[in-house]
Amino acid sequence: MLFDSHAHLNSERYDADDLENIVAAIEKSDLSYVMDIGYDLASSVAAIEHAKKYPWCFAAVGCHPHDAKTMDETALTMFRGLAKKSKVKAIGEIGLDYFYEHSERDVQQYWFRRQVQLALALDMPIVIHDRDANDDVMRILKEEGVFSKARNERLGDAKLLMHCFSGSKELAHQYVKLGATISVAGPITYKNARKTIEVVQEIPIEHLVIETDAPYLTPEPFRGKRNQPDFVEYTARKIAEIKELTYEEAAEITCNNAKKFFSID
Ligand code: NI
Repeated sequence: MLFDSHAHLNSERYDADDLENIVAAIEKSDLSYVMDIGYDLASSVAAIEHAKKYPWCFAAVGCHPHDAKTMDETALTMFRGLAKKSKVKAIGEIGLDYFYEHSERDVQQYWFRRQVQLALALDMPIVIHDRDANDDVMRILKEEGVFSKARNERLGDAKLLMHCFSGSKELAHQYVKLGATISVAGPITYKNARKTIEVVQEIPIEHLVIETDAPYLTPEPFRGKRNQPDFVEYTARKIAEIKELTYEEAAEITCNNAKKFFSID
């Protein structure tokens, strides 16, 4: 039992043959669920198609900060329509990326805010991408009322997922206190992962989920190769080691956390 809470089966880096092989690998593995995450309109549509086709697949729709410059009002209206399709469980990935800065910062912030507002209007979970933009992400989420008592009460918690968390344990604590969920990916298996290992040590396991971010961020022992969802097993094994659980326990707990987060029965 494993849940890859963040993958891009919709990525252009997979052609039809790749996808066929990856689907076969998923179906042979311990994976029970994969969340296919949109990063623009086309990839969000593709994620919905995958969710239709595969019983273990669910979708999130949204525009990544890299692609914020492609956004306009028409696109936002289209995302609103896509968000209502069956098996779409979240808005994401949305956020800010000041490391690559493929879109101007003010453009990123504007469309991040608008998509947060969309998620709030639809009462949907939000999947966040935050790279080198900790303060602005937190500020915008607070300004938009993501952590409001009313939303928390309606949805059970903040329904905010920090994808591939790379911040400090102090920041992780802040998010957990606000009711958010922390997701860790393959880099926790790398030699220099001390900071993220500390995060996992510190936060209660109820607030933790795991992901691949495939085709990126391949865990050890496959680092250097292209990533795929069934490799989430290696992240689960690392979580088990850090939290002093068996692999089966770590897999089951993080799977149940993700199911609860995305409201999947
Ligand atoms: Ni991603």
